[in-house]
Amino acid sequence: MPDLFRPNIARLRGYVPGEQPREKGYIKLNTNENPYPPSPLVLARLRDACSANLRLYPDPDAWALRRKLGEVFAIAPQQIMAGNGSDELLNVIIRSFASEGDKIAYPHPTYGYYKPLIDIQGAEAVPVEFGEDFALPEGLAVPGARITFLANPNAPSGTLVPYAEVAALCARIEGVLVVDEAYVDFSQGGCIQLIAEHPNAIVVRTMSKSFSLAGMRIGFAFAPVALIEGMWKVKDHYNLNRLSLVAAEAALEDIDAMRGNAARVCATRSRLCARLRGLGFYVWDSQANFVLAKLGERWANCAAAELYAQLKERRILVRYFAAPPRLADCLRISVGTDAEIAALLAALKELSSV
Ligand SMILES: Cc1ncc(COP(=O)(O)O)c(C=O)c1O
Repeated sequence: MPDLFRPNIARLRGYVPGEQPREKGYIKLNTNENPYPPSPLVLARLRDACSANLRLYPDPDAWALRRKLGEVFAIAPQQIMAGNGSDELLNVIIRSFASEGDKIAYPHPTYGYYKPLIDIQGAEAVPVEFGEDFALPEGLAVPGARITFLANPNAPSGTLVPYAEVAALCARIEGVLVVDEAYVDFSQGGCIQLIAEHPNAIVVRTMSKSFSLAGMRIGFAFAPVALIEGMWKVKDHYNLNRLSLVAAEAALEDIDAMRGNAARVCATRSRLCARLRGLGFYVWDSQANFVLAKLGERWANCAAAELYAQLKERRILVRYFAAPPRLADCLRISVGTDAEIAALLAALKELSSV
């Protein structure tokens, strides 16, 4: 039988997201979800929204939501696109700005979904290696790149590039700069003001992490009006469902709930980093809701893959990346509740003395 697929799709391995276990009872520290529930206002509004109105299509413009976002971030609704998770917006961006064969640059290692999206489009991925400290790599301004992605804070390192460096990069590159700020609410950073100063800047955010709404699939792109207008031609018309729109608006109305949860996560993160270092891990300074921990000498008898498996046996899930090689001796650990982190640390302590 002839191969029915486009050659680049036939070649593609496909993105493998972090495990969502089918059984209950795991401490889930593997996909950077928020351990705390969303605002009670979100849940109340969702209950009310489960009505006969669900027979109607949602607002294709997400207008009420974009107006609220505009108020919160002091920008015009016309500079905002809402998406079915920020993943959808990354996809819209690639389809809007890169043709087959065009270069798309990003520092590496970073969020693993950029590469499959680039491959699906048939564009050329140009990864530029981060140094050991995950500072912005010199060579990231790749000549001719139509798009440059920068996850900031970066995943899986949690490290943050300062605003001035991001702005300088944006001024230097030829195509669009996409600053993916999925984890920004756990950081001291934020680049939304870039879009006022740079016609080629796009900032992408999500409600999956800080707003505890990964299950609702809500993301935002902030960009100059001309870019949003062009991207509008590419997005699915009813990309956000009615319930997601309701949840997103309610979450913004009670934004203090998000800020409170983010502050708790950051406090737990500090303790987690200190304890992991005490247990013999090298931990990069994280400004996200996860940390990247590299096994030090004390773990010489235990590979990271083995440690991941031992934790899983104890029903604690963390993220292990078999590739690239520089991550093969690391674990990425999402910041859970204090009780979850205490259980993780107790398990690691026990395993370190085996
Ligand atoms: C850097 C980064 N960007 C985007 C996403 C996707 O987020 P969303 O749930 O909004 O699709 C993730 C999810 O883990 C991420 O780590």
